[in-house]
Amino acid sequence: MKTQSEILGQIRDLSSHASDSRELLQGVVQLLAAERPYYSWTGFYLMDGADALVLGPYHGKPSPHTRIPLNQGICGAAASTGESVIVDDVNADPRYLACSLETRSEIVVPIKRDGKVLGEIDVDSDQTAAFSSEDQRLLEEIAEIVARQL
Ligand code: SME
Repeated sequence: MKTQSEILGQIRDLSSHASDSRELLQGVVQLLAAERPYYSWTGFYLMDGADALVLGPYHGKPSPHTRIPLNQGICGAAASTGESVIVDDVNADPRYLACSLETRSEIVVPIKRDGKVLGEIDVDSDQTAAFSSEDQRLLEEIAEIVARQL
């Protein structure tokens, strides 16, 4: 398992060589899936207009939630507040929109440039309370790198 700084170094490298933002986002989800085995689903949602998110590149099972209004889900909560959200037990959170029956916890980190939310990184885990402040820090740093390319 690569360290946070190794992962960030690789993503910075990807970001300077990727031919477009999609290639970068695809590379990020592949890398996170490979290096963080408890990330069971990792994906990007991107803002579509002012009121909804659309699913971008992801790694994991297909999600039924390809479009999420900002007033729905944990994804909507993170995008509308501009703050990261960690949910230790998704079944205890009324905002949760189920993607897979196995999912137990989730983290959503907004991607912002100049204070504006452009999208977010969404990660699900099949383990309860899988995400720590370390995961939050890693994903927030990735969000900063990605924000420059969106
Ligand atoms: N669980 C999210 C929906 C997206 S899927 O997890 C991929 C939510 O509650 O917004």
